[in-house]
Amino acid sequence: MIKLGILGSGIITECHFFALERIDDAQVAAIASLDEEAGRNACERFGARYYRDYKELLEKEKELDGIVVALPNHMHYQGCVDAIEAGFQNILCEKPLCISSEQSAKLVELVREKGIMFQTAYMKRFNPGFRKIRELADQMGEMEFVTFSIFNAAPEPEISGEKELGSWHDDAKLSGGGFLTHSGSHHLDLLRYCFGEIHSVACKCRYDNKDGRDYFLDADLKMESGIDVDMKLGRVDVKDLGPQWKPFRGGWNESVEVIGSRGYLRVDNPSWQGYEVMQVTKWFQGMCGPETYSFECNEQWINELKAFIKNCETGKLGEGCSSVVDGYRVDYIIEKMRESGNQEGKEIVLKYPY
Ligand SMILES: NC(=O)c1ccc[n+]([C@@H]2O[C@H](COP(=O)([O-])OP(=O)(O)OC[C@H]3O[C@@H](n4cnc5c(N)ncnc54)[C@H](O)[C@@H]3O)[C@@H](O)[C@H]2O)c1
Repeated sequence: MIKLGILGSGIITECHFFALERIDDAQVAAIASLDEEAGRNACERFGARYYRDYKELLEKEKELDGIVVALPNHMHYQGCVDAIEAGFQNILCEKPLCISSEQSAKLVELVREKGIMFQTAYMKRFNPGFRKIRELADQMGEMEFVTFSIFNAAPEPEISGEKELGSWHDDAKLSGGGFLTHSGSHHLDLLRYCFGEIHSVACKCRYDNKDGRDYFLDADLKMESGIDVDMKLGRVDVKDLGPQWKPFRGGWNESVEVIGSRGYLRVDNPSWQGYEVMQVTKWFQGMCGPETYSFECNEQWINELKAFIKNCETGKLGEGCSSVVDGYRVDYIIEKMRESGNQEGKEIVLKYPY
């Protein structure tokens, strides 16, 4: 039985708890949360021990096998460093890895120096719909064009669970940026997982006048393989269009489209948590019509946590998991995309130090 300590009990831990309730060989043994009511309720669910401050949990719970860092973005770096210095060997850290590539580079160094098993929690890699795209992409022939898009209708303050403590999501210094960091980071990880490394970025950004966070982004990315990728991301505050307004049903509208010399693939994901059915459409040369696959994509949480439990058992990062270097690269690419956006879409060739 793998015993876990969870740092945080906010929006994302609900998804972790959903998964952990369905995994037999894992036990939530301790939870830390500044929100005492949420923390104690979660502890009751699992028979876990409650701590208010995560540092106290790290000090007192030495027998845990793994730590899940589900703290606000600006606390990831220190939370991971504290967990490593407290002697923990297995860490799952929520995305984005850190709020700057400088911080994530330091974490890469520390993880390497101490030989830690470190997984970055980009769960879309574990989503059956996106995995289908990755699997079928090999059969597409010469790749012509790939598009990744996410449009989210919810204004960000509304998606923070921490109302009484103040929202960190809507403060760029604490969240590390706007929509690109919040949601685009997922697509950058997924893009690299499905289609290899990104060679260069050219990007246009729109910023919110009030707080300077990016909320709309239109990017051309060139892959090292030569594939061109069009990425469009936006937090669009459209209200009162009624239930028939399909694009923002559930507040989330995400798709990936792939056009190759032998066919067409598309995946549509209507909710980030994955509580709705997700569809993949395949239409290949020689088929008389499209074939569709449906997936329960909340499996993404179960698959991600199962992979982490296995990684805790073996002490090694399993095939297909996002590593600390993957987390670093996403943070680095985001910074370069912003840099390009600030130079009117100038193409920037990426040079990865890690
Ligand atoms: N993978 C995804 O799709 C996804 C979705 C949502 C959030 N996230 C990520 O998960 C992380 C948490 O986001 P959230 O939306 O759950 O935030 P949240 O504000 O709802 O929760 C943060 C939690 O951290 C706790 N916390 C803060 N300081 C603490 C301390 N010193 N000691 C103990 N606990 C402390 C808070 O009490 C709270 O329970 C973020 O990094 C976010 O980017 C990922």
